[in-house]
Parts: sequence; structure tokens; C-alpha cells
Amino acid sequence: MEHHDEDDEVATLATTGVREMATISRHSFSTAGQTDEAFSIDIIENINGDYGLFVWPCGIVLAEYVWQQRLRFSGTSVVELGAGTSLPGLVAAKVGSDVTLTDNSNRLEVLDNMRRMCDLNKVSCKVLGLTWGEWDTPIFSLHPDIVLGGDVLYDSSDFDDLFATVKFLLQNSPGSVFITTYHNRSGHHLIEYLMVKWGFKCIKLLDAFSFMPSSKTSRISGNIQLAEIMLDLQQPQNVRV
Ligand SMILES: C[S@@+](CC[C@H](N)C(=O)[O-])C[C@H]1O[C@@H](n2cnc3c(N)ncnc32)[C@H](O)[C@@H]1O
Repeated sequence: MEHHDEDDEVATLATTGVREMATISRHSFSTAGQTDEAFSIDIIENINGDYGLFVWPCGIVLAEYVWQQRLRFSGTSVVELGAGTSLPGLVAAKVGSDVTLTDNSNRLEVLDNMRRMCDLNKVSCKVLGLTWGEWDTPIFSLHPDIVLGGDVLYDSSDFDDLFATVKFLLQNSPGSVFITTYHNRSGHHLIEYLMVKWGFKCIKLLDAFSFMPSSKTSRISGNIQLAEIMLDLQQPQNVRV
């Protein structure tokens, strides 16, 4: 595989005899005046592939948030749901989190790509098939401090399954939070309804443009929000779907 420093350059990748078009995009994380902490993450994307083989703008926003909150992330246990190309989780691993990257158990190509990106970026993350709303054995051993999800609120038919999984993880790890970025096209009212339904409360809501550095705003478009959510222990915690 050829390696390119510039975003959006195309490398040709041969996989199992099928020639696919793959790109490697480089994503940099730095703070002015603190160059010793700076690093970059290389992401293998396939524009002809699955949703999970492409870095979505919400992933770029969530990864930047993890970087800016790196002191908070250091030493924590992190699970990324619907991680796809996993940029936020890979940043969390770089800043010292113990990271489990997850995606739909049936998306073997996406899960394989995650493993390759861990090697490429020299980070050690666990990679796990975790389909929302399904209770396979490995989920019971997850006790995250922070659950991440970039652009996982896009198909309303999956919302209940997603929230059921998030609820399980937060209950399995008291005090934990879910940090998600989403396009506001999904509608706040639906998310607010789901939070009440599933017994969550929103403790932080940020507009992406309020914290993205100007060097990255050209890579995001639309109205992207970041919400930090936790269990609302004042609400009844039993839910009927
Ligand atoms: C829009 S992509 C976002 C990918 C990545 N988080 C990002 O921001 O670049 C949605 C991701 O959710 C995953 N996904 C969709 N439905 C899922 C499900 N039912 N269970 C687990 N993952 C799912 C997809 O495979 C895909 O990786």
C-alpha cells in the first residue's frame, strides 16, 4: 500500500485479488506552542465501500473534542460505538485511554480495517463486533468510563437499539458518559424524546463550530452538535421498547 501525506490522495490497494480504491487521509492534532504533544493519525478509507470505511464529518469533530479534552481522557477506559474508521477512538488511544473499537458484527471488512489502522498508527486497541441492541457475551465485560459515538444517530430505525446498548454500557459502569456528535438533521426533538424515554439527561451540548479550530472547519459542513449524555437517576430506569 502506498502512503500519502496529503488528504484525499488515492493509493491503490490490492485485497484478496480484488483491486479496490483506497485512500489514506492524515489527520493532525496539535496545540499552538505545544509541539511535543502533537501527533497525526492515518485513516484508511474506501470511498466505494461501506459507511464505516469513510471518515464522516462528525468523526472529525468528535476526534478533535477528544484531543482538546486529552487530560480528561488519559487513563480512562473508552468504548467507541459504530466506530467505522475510528478516528476518535484512535485519538483517545494516543492520549492514553484504554480503547475498545466496535462496529456492527456483520461488517467484517470494517472490523478488519480497524485492526489495520491500529497497526498503521502503532496503537493497541481491542476491536470488537458489537451490533446495537444485541447482547453477545463480550459486551458484558465492557466497563467504559466514556462511550463515544460519531454520527451514529442518522437512521431513526436504529435509535432504540443504539440507546439500549448505550444504556446497558452506562449502567454497567456507574458514572460513565456517552459523548456523541450528530447532524442536527436528525432533529433535537427526537433525541430529547429518546433521552427521556431511555432515562438519560444531557449534561453538555456544543455546536461543533464553537470548538473546532479554523484549520478544520472547511472539512465539516452542516449543523453538527456534540452532546454529552449520562443516566438520569431521577428518572425511572425501566424502559419498554
Ligand atoms: C455514518 S457511519 C459513522 C462512522 C464513524 N463513527 C465516523 O464518524 O466516521 C455509521 C457507523 O455506524 C455503524 N453502524 C450502523 N448500524 C449499526 C448497528 N446496528 N450496530 C453497530 N454499528 C452500526 C456503521 O457500520 C458505521 O460504521
